[in-house]
Amino acid sequence: MHYLVIGGAGYIGSHMVKLLIGEGHGVTIVDDLSSGHADALLGGELIVHDFSDRAFLDRLFSSVKFDGVFHFASQILVGESVTNPAKYYRANTFATLTLLEAMRDHKIDYFVFSSTAAVYGEPEYTPIDENHRKVPVNPYGASKYMVEMMLADFHRAHGLKYVALRYFNAAGADPQSRLGERHEPETHLIPLALKAVLGKKPPLKLFGRDYDTPDGTCIRDYIHVDDLSSAHLLAMQYLYAGGESTAFNLGNGAGYSVQQVIDVVGKVTGRPVPVEYAPRREGDPARLVADASKAKKVLGWQPVLTGLETIVQHAWNWEAASQ
Ligand SMILES: NC(=O)c1ccc[n+]([C@@H]2O[C@H](COP(=O)([O-])OP(=O)(O)OC[C@H]3O[C@@H](n4cnc5c(N)ncnc54)[C@H](O)[C@@H]3O)[C@@H](O)[C@H]2O)c1
Repeated sequence: MHYLVIGGAGYIGSHMVKLLIGEGHGVTIVDDLSSGHADALLGGELIVHDFSDRAFLDRLFSSVKFDGVFHFASQILVGESVTNPAKYYRANTFATLTLLEAMRDHKIDYFVFSSTAAVYGEPEYTPIDENHRKVPVNPYGASKYMVEMMLADFHRAHGLKYVALRYFNAAGADPQSRLGERHEPETHLIPLALKAVLGKKPPLKLFGRDYDTPDGTCIRDYIHVDDLSSAHLLAMQYLYAGGESTAFNLGNGAGYSVQQVIDVVGKVTGRPVPVEYAPRREGDPARLVADASKAKKVLGWQPVLTGLETIVQHAWNWEAASQ
């Protein structure tokens, strides 16, 4: 197969490219390198371009017949989406509409989309399954949910075959430390804790210790980036096997509190994490944990790098090696 990976030079996309190459597929990557890194690609052909350029997509789709598209490119900062919503609706929603129109016109029918747990908004219950009501509480989540709605409509109208994968917290790194998380700015807990240990970032800010959880800190669901990648390939294969277009949650099903993460980072690195305590942040639910049983049952997905210690160890190996 020959796949197009949009945003393949980013954190999750580069692990996806690694998997596809390892499985012997042809891979073309379109990435404008706005937040990605060319040296994160272990193979494939990189085209540095903005994927929302329709004329560019027409040229590309006329020259290569892709068997499917994995779409990772997005703006990802929840806080920024609140202060600059237009940027998110343009980059995430409108740009993806342009892509879907180009795919429709060039008869590319298979699509796997990086969605997010943010489509659910404030949880009514946990673990959260796919039927949970979707009321995003920020423009980032809304911009992704709008794409999901467009996908359903393109499916009905044009026969697009799609899977939307709603990730919870992507974490970890390539077990061989060739790839890892390189966001700028970094907002994710594990890399921030590791960078605080290394003195590359200020002490880790811990927002709120008075939540209704066993240790008072927020609980999140961390899923290893290689396990996320394997679900994408299974999703594409599922569509090729005639599977119904739909959405799946991707998570561990096991929640860990911020304090537990800090403790594991301390254990793995052998150094205490410098922490600064801060009040709760607005809009942070106490508990966000996935019910990923649908992906396991329907896709046959079996995450294997599930322990928090493994996830932190891989992230640490990468972080320490890339000093
Ligand atoms: N990291 C997480 O925990 C998480 C959780 C839920 C959902 N997601 C989703 O997963 C996807 C990937 O996230 P990530 O953490 O790897 O982000 P990332 O910023 O590392 O990767 C995004 C990639 O897309 C590229 N890109 C952005 N806009 C582009 C454009 N217009 N044209 C071409 N390339 C463009 C960037 O250069 C970058 O390489 C995103 O869609 C994000 O919303 C991530």
